[in-house]
Amino acid sequence: MELDEVIARRTSVRYFEDKSVGEDVILKLLESAIRAPTASDLENWLFIVFRSDDARKKLYDLIAEGMLEYYRAVNLPEDKMEKLRKRLYENGMYLAPVYIAVFIDRRVRFLEGKEFDELEFIWSLESASMAIENLMLKAVELGLGAVYIGVTNFRGIEERVRELAGLDENYYLVGVIPVGHPRKEVRPRKRRKGPADVVRSV
Ligand SMILES: Cc1cc2nc3c(=O)[nH]c(=O)nc-3n(C[C@H](O)[C@H](O)[C@H](O)COP(=O)(O)O)c2cc1C
Repeated sequence: MELDEVIARRTSVRYFEDKSVGEDVILKLLESAIRAPTASDLENWLFIVFRSDDARKKLYDLIAEGMLEYYRAVNLPEDKMEKLRKRLYENGMYLAPVYIAVFIDRRVRFLEGKEFDELEFIWSLESASMAIENLMLKAVELGLGAVYIGVTNFRGIEERVRELAGLDENYYLVGVIPVGHPRKEVRPRKRRKGPADVVRSV
C-alpha cells in the first residue's frame, strides 16, 4: 500500500472482530513504532502489550470508566450516557484482542535541571506520540484498525493503568491503543478544515 493510501485510510476504529492478532504482527507494529524520531535520541518509551484475557478485561474497564468520565465532564444528558453504556457493555466498543499502552520513562532525559522539567516532559510525550502514529499507520497497512485512547489519562485512571502494566510512578502513560481487525467497513472521517483553513505563510 502506498503511503498516501495508508494515511488516507487511517481513521479511528472502535469496534473489533473477536479474532486474535499474531505475535509476528504485533512485532511489526512495534518495529514501526520505534522507527519514530525521539527528542535527543533518547528512545525513552516503553510499550506494554496487553494480551491476556485478565489484563485486557481490567484495562477495558478502565477505558470504559474514562469514557464515562469524559462525557460526564461535558454534562452529556442521561439518555446519551445510557447509549454510551450500551455501546460499551453490550456492543463491545473498544473491546480488542490486543491493547498497546505507551509509556515514557521520566527519568531518562538529556537536559538536567529543574528548569527543563516541563520541556523534557513535553518532548517525551511528543516523541511517544510520533511512535503511536507510526504504529497506527502500520496497522492500516496490515489490514488492522486502531484508536488512540486518551481518556485513560484522567487522574485516578492513569495510575491504575500504570499499576496494571507493572510500572512505578517514574513512568507516565501517553496513550492506550486498542488494535484489532475492524468489525465494520472502515470509513475515514472527513476533515472539517482544509489546508486553506489551517495554513498560513509568513
Ligand atoms: C491524543 C488523542 C486522544 C484521543 N482519545 C480518544 C479517546 O479517549 N477515545 C476515543 O474514542 N477516541 C480518542 N481519540 C480519537 C479521536 O477522537 C479521533 O482521532 C478524532 O475524532 C478524528 O477522527 P479520526 O481519527 O477517525 O480521523 C483520541 C485522539 C488523540 C490524538
